[in-house]
Amino acid sequence: MALIHGGQLQKVAKQYRIPTADWLDLSTGIAPNSYPIPDIALSVWQQLPQQSLKLISAAKQYYQCSELVITNGSQAIIKALPALYQQKNSNAKDVYLPERGYKEHAHAWRIAGYNLHFYQDLLPEINLLTPHCVVVIINPNNPTGQFFAREVIKQYHHKVSQLEGLLVLDEAFIDVMPSKQSYCSEVHNKHCLVLRSFGKFFGLAGIRIGFLVANNDWCSTFTELLGPWQVNGPAQIIAERALSDNHWHTKQKKILNELRTTQERMLRQVFPTTLIANITGCDLFLTVSFHQADSAKELYHLLCQQGIYCRLADEQDTLRFGITTEEALSHLKDACLLAQKKLTSPPTLENNTS
Ligand SMILES: Cc1ncc(COP(=O)(O)O)c(C=O)c1O
Repeated sequence: MALIHGGQLQKVAKQYRIPTADWLDLSTGIAPNSYPIPDIALSVWQQLPQQSLKLISAAKQYYQCSELVITNGSQAIIKALPALYQQKNSNAKDVYLPERGYKEHAHAWRIAGYNLHFYQDLLPEINLLTPHCVVVIINPNNPTGQFFAREVIKQYHHKVSQLEGLLVLDEAFIDVMPSKQSYCSEVHNKHCLVLRSFGKFFGLAGIRIGFLVANNDWCSTFTELLGPWQVNGPAQIIAERALSDNHWHTKQKKILNELRTTQERMLRQVFPTTLIANITGCDLFLTVSFHQADSAKELYHLLCQQGIYCRLADEQDTLRFGITTEEALSHLKDACLLAQKKLTSPPTLENNTS
């Protein structure tokens, strides 16, 4: 069965009978402002896309790595990896995954028949990892925002290499952090893969582009598997420009950090500490947890009634808000205030009878 994700506005709009144009969609962790689309020559639309050497070079520079594969989104790698790994290492049985995190990882390994072991806030005990195992780390985690330092990742990489296993690092949201936090430059052997997502930080999820950073052997295997014309020509042109534009990267990081800080402050003002337990996340989303799990579901509904679409966790106990623009923030604030008032005020006679 297909998993539920954010970004399903048409469905939610229909459910709440509010036209799609009237919603504030904060259901994903995609930047609210995007890299400007350059002029693209007609020939790029007309011709079959060849792999752009300029893009490969820009991506190697941006990700600070020596080998990579361009894909139509890192999801393509997540989906294909388990079956491929089975061919490469038939001894592999165990996969360690975050209990909370982008669920497509677990889904893909489960379908391929691996034994799934879930860890919570702490990574699995390093000395208990089994031979040939796979360790999946989402860094920073979506939705919890939990982040593991490079030194910690290095220890797991070392251990997994000794065990002839595989470390899968999903760095889909890492662009908002200082670039030295990424592990891409450390990927030199067959025991580590890093996934990078283009659409989130650059605010262009619609063009579907992502990258796998891996050693030469893994890159050849994936290139073979994915086949020709993986990524369309216009997307390659846009990504090449965007990845090369250092000035824009610095500006974007600053904007997202300021927006996140303001939005987090607003959420903390609006939701009393008696209601919310914590707010975590990164500069692309904020995840609110509650003292009473039911509050998340009720608030989600109260916000949807006002045309605010955030992401209710699969566990139904937290709400994740994408970062919004300055202009939309007061609308979000008013909606949150009303929703929390309705949630926390005792039902009136009128409410009871309606
Ligand atoms: C943690 C994480 N990894 C990977 C992906 C896949 O993104 P994409 O295929 O756009 O690169 C997502 C999508 O939301 C995600 O949240």
